[in-house]
Amino acid sequence: MRGPLCLVLFIIGGHVAMADDLPPWGEPHLAPIPRTEAEKLRIDAAVASDLHKGSPYESRSAGAATAMSPPVHAPFSEPASGLTAIQALDFRLGEALFEKLWVQGPASTISSDGLGPLYNARACSACHINDGRGHPPEDPNDPTPGLVLRLSQITSDGLVYPDPLYGSQIQDRAISGHLAEGSLRIDYETQHVTMADGLVVELQAPTYTLASSSQGPLNELTMTSPRIAPQMIGLGLMEAIPEADILANADPVDTDKDGISGRPNRVWSREFDQWMLGRFGHKAGNPTIRQQTADAANGDIGLSSTLFPTPYGDCTAQQTNCRTARNGNSAPQDNQELGDTALDLMAFYAGNLAVPVRANANDAQVLRGKSVFHSSGCADCHQPAFVTHRLPDDPVRSFQLIWPFTDLLLHDMGDGLADHRPEWHATGREWRTAPLWGLGRTEQVSGQKSFLHDGRARTVLEAIMWHGGEAATARENTRLLGSEDRAALIAFLESL
Ligand code: HEC
Ligand code: HEC
Repeated sequence: MRGPLCLVLFIIGGHVAMADDLPPWGEPHLAPIPRTEAEKLRIDAAVASDLHKGSPYESRSAGAATAMSPPVHAPFSEPASGLTAIQALDFRLGEALFEKLWVQGPASTISSDGLGPLYNARACSACHINDGRGHPPEDPNDPTPGLVLRLSQITSDGLVYPDPLYGSQIQDRAISGHLAEGSLRIDYETQHVTMADGLVVELQAPTYTLASSSQGPLNELTMTSPRIAPQMIGLGLMEAIPEADILANADPVDTDKDGISGRPNRVWSREFDQWMLGRFGHKAGNPTIRQQTADAANGDIGLSSTLFPTPYGDCTAQQTNCRTARNGNSAPQDNQELGDTALDLMAFYAGNLAVPVRANANDAQVLRGKSVFHSSGCADCHQPAFVTHRLPDDPVRSFQLIWPFTDLLLHDMGDGLADHRPEWHATGREWRTAPLWGLGRTEQVSGQKSFLHDGRARTVLEAIMWHGGEAATARENTRLLGSEDRAALIAFLESL
């Protein structure tokens, strides 16, 4: 799709079916060497993990790029193993930008100004805590900016566009002289699920309301989607999985009748001016780490870049004060607040955070849990392994056997998790299968456990009990487990 309609669409994503947009869409972000037939056979054998035995490779979740001795205080903050000295320097520059606190523009330090006018956080690291995930605020006074409420409306023929007043998300902070859009209120209702052996699991079902809004209540036609910041590890490897291997697991109309479909998201690439496979975000709404980075910089912090050029971030035409505020665009940065060099460094950092080694992948209980994971149907979506493209210019990401435990596809997860808000090709009931590598380190990294797209689940078991829709059978299989098998399944997940 080209032309004016597409301009509207690529703001958030629509799902208008186009004749020329069937997959494969192509991988302009990579320059791979095609696989030989012999390689394909080797790869098929390598990813077909033995369901019951240990594997000599599995503990290195990210292949040769795995962090082999991640420090206890910051296990997600290591650079991918194998970076050259120059790349290691770029990683540190990117890290500094990821942690930088942006200030209101114009300021004397042009490379640090451009915040807002409306924003959710002053630094990437404020939400992606220690390069891990965020969590929902614990109470209205919790200053953590971990949860973002996305907004959109939809026309009767399926065209999606931002809320005309509040834009693509609620910004709960603003620079001096401007009013924040409002704050989020989360109310939880307690529900209970009883496991077959009598254990009662308490679930908390959230509802979100816009409290203390400065510009009036949300329009009743506006759809909302709460999201916590995901963990940052292994993203560059997820970007280097061949599109064909992801599409090979897709079964959009459930032809094999196993109750599990799996659909690729199709999203607009601002970098390459074409449709691409969506890989990043809870609904796979962004095609590359670079675009996701520029999107976050614009929507969450209020920074302009070549990909998202508005210096006023997510302010809408109705928010005139905000649109006309002074900004941090400056000539030395090609009239951007976030210049291309800084964007590239940030994206490099985001793409090269290492996945920590698994310490106890071959313990007896963990192996028993692995077998339960497979027999419960978890691997139908949480696809254990892939081999990345052969990338001669990019040895660290090239031809690695990796274990992300996601198919990177969208699945209908049922009413309990539905946000009823489509994003590109994803429906209001679909989510991208969450990668499970690093799962056991969540609390160590982010200070608390918060699973699923909005962080509502406080334990791994709660997260599984929220699975519905295509995953209802897997959830029921887990509910029926005896206590030892259940403990083994959890031990396996915590070992990742
Ligand atoms: C206000 C909180 C917040 C800030 C600040 C923030 N992010 Fe995020 N980040 C999120 C959320 C929420 C998502 C999930 C987005 C979605 O589902 O569309 C996300 C997703 C991502 C992803 C994709 C991860 C994945 O597994 O798909 C990357 C990469 C990322 N952010 C990088 C950044 C960078 C770089 C910055 C700074 C420029 C940044 N983020 C700032 C909240 C934040
Ligand atoms: C039909 C596909 C499907 C099946 C089957 C499935 N999952 Fe999931 N899983 C998902 C999706 C999609 C998400 C993300 C949902 C969300 O964010 O709301 C997810 C999220 C999770 C999470 C939370 C991860 C995080 O980072 O927050 C855990 C843990 C998990 N699944 C474990 C399991 C286990 C264990 C099983 C088997 C009992 C299983 N899943 C079966 C699709 C599936």
